[in-house]
Amino acid sequence: MFRNIALIAASALTLTAGGALAAGSEGHVEDVAFSFEGPFGKFDQFQLQRGLQVYTEVCSGCHGLKYVPIRTLSDEGGPGLPEDQVRAYAKQFTVTDKETGEDREAVPADNFPANTGAGAPDLSLMAKARAGFHGPYGTGINQLFRGMGGPEYIYSLLTGYTGEEKEEFGSYFYENKAFPGGWIAMAPPLSDDQVTYADGHPATVHHMAEDVAAFLMWAAEPKLMDRKSAGFVSVLFLILLSTLLYLTNKRIWAGVKGKQAHA
Ligand code: HEC
Repeated sequence: MFRNIALIAASALTLTAGGALAAGSEGHVEDVAFSFEGPFGKFDQFQLQRGLQVYTEVCSGCHGLKYVPIRTLSDEGGPGLPEDQVRAYAKQFTVTDKETGEDREAVPADNFPANTGAGAPDLSLMAKARAGFHGPYGTGINQLFRGMGGPEYIYSLLTGYTGEEKEEFGSYFYENKAFPGGWIAMAPPLSDDQVTYADGHPATVHHMAEDVAAFLMWAAEPKLMDRKSAGFVSVLFLILLSTLLYLTNKRIWAGVKGKQAHA
């Protein structure tokens, strides 16, 4: 019996060790203290506006954001742009009108355009798609306890280039510490002072990466705040309900329990 248990334990250990090796190729993700983390966290409106600027001036050259309606840029809890600015912003994109089939300037009711030219994935849901299972053995522990998820991954990806590159089958790959497998086909998109922020915020790679990661989190989950407050109200409600049930239960059985104590 004991030998069997020992055998099982030994094979479990080997399996775990294998898992650890496999996890080695998983990228390295840095923790970032984003304003929207924690039960009371909120998106920082100005950070989202800066992130939008980075997306527009840098990332949109290759990546689309096709599931995000442009009008949501004026949503409260989001970037909160005034409506005339959203209208002006929309104008820079050209979309194909669904009814007439002709190209025209985008209006706020349109979505951001798709962009597949460079073989780059759409970024609308990327921050959620890559929420990932970071942490020891890909367990997701880091996400659960340290709030590390998609935005941290995007930040780490943008700041994770080592400067090494290689050519394979005519394509270039760039070494990146955060990208699973270590080599990505996206050239380092950011360099210091690539954009000029209107609010005078420093535009280092680190800041731009943080801002665009926050913006992409908002794009993927614009209702994060509402969801958090709904969650909070439900927890309060459950606590109240449990207390009431506990007290009711005590009252109902008070007579019976009292008798037992005497017996
Ligand atoms: C010159 C074109 C180009 C630009 C500019 C660019 N990207 Fe990319 N990006 C790519 C390509 C191509 C891929 C696919 C790489 C691969 O799968 O190896 C990619 C992949 C990604 C991924 C997905 C990585 C994954 O886990 O699969 C993210 C996130 C990303 N880019 C974010 C950004 C952000 C944010 C910006 C702006 C700061 C940006 N990119 C600018 C071309 C670009």
